[in-house]
Amino acid sequence: MTLDGKTWVYGVVGYPISHSLSPVFQNQAFRHFSINAVYVPFEVKPEDFERAFLGLKALGVKGVNITLPHKEKVLDFVDFLDEHVKAIGAANTVKFTEEASYAYNTDWIGFLRAAEKLVGDLKGIRVLVLGAGGSSRAILYGLQKKEARVFLWNRTRDKAYKLCQVFGCNVVEKPEEVISKVDFIVNTTSAGLRDDDPPLFDYNLLHPEQKVMDIIYKETPLLRTAREKGCSYLDGLDMLLYQGIESFKIWTGLEVPYKVVKEAILNYQTRTTI
Ligand code: ATR
Repeated sequence: MTLDGKTWVYGVVGYPISHSLSPVFQNQAFRHFSINAVYVPFEVKPEDFERAFLGLKALGVKGVNITLPHKEKVLDFVDFLDEHVKAIGAANTVKFTEEASYAYNTDWIGFLRAAEKLVGDLKGIRVLVLGAGGSSRAILYGLQKKEARVFLWNRTRDKAYKLCQVFGCNVVEKPEEVISKVDFIVNTTSAGLRDDDPPLFDYNLLHPEQKVMDIIYKETPLLRTAREKGCSYLDGLDMLLYQGIESFKIWTGLEVPYKVVKEAILNYQTRTTI
């Protein structure tokens, strides 16, 4: 792809941003459709977000993903919020037109597509969600839409109670209270990013019929135990790819095949780990 005077610019805004895999697969999506566009990382500190956001508009950037820690803040600066953004209270996708800026949330759809791949129909499924941060909100919203039965645990109990009021779930004091009777366990916390993070509960309590998902995109201690116990499991890469596929659709009207974006990541990982 040759960049020229007509190249459209897209990107991802976050802090930090250098670990982001979105440029890897979003650029592949543009190449797949031979669209003259480029997708770049924008590292923007919280205190610079407003100026940066106005700058994106002024520069004629066509669209961005918004990631940590700006997903809530962005709502103050866009012209229109879609209904899901209003319900979740966070956006991860912005589209700019000549006239206005529009905020969307595709995290909840990304989660549902990944979760349904692992679990199948979510209706009536008993789910234990670990964590009550920003990612958890989108996940609880998706699970509520699918009429799953959700139990929520969070280290800071108050946050769990607040989210359960909004998204209709049940707070548990300890994961062990429900671990033996749930069908599906989702970790939305950052515990497990590092191998020596203390476990959230005794992972040996998992049993093989249970499905386990972690939104971290690597094999965390939770997922390692799930694999050893014979559970079906999924890391966070599919959720990332599916939310990205949905964002791309919002910007271009085109659905990039999952295989195309997955291969982009696998090729990138092979190239960067050799
Ligand atoms: P995100 O947007 O990725 O969800 P966040 O909003 O900062 O990030 O939320 C982080 C979540 O991980 C919270 O639920 C946090 O628990 P607290 O609300 O008690 O802070 C959880 N978390 C982070 N580190 C954790 C740890 N070591 N053990 C348990 N929970 C942890």
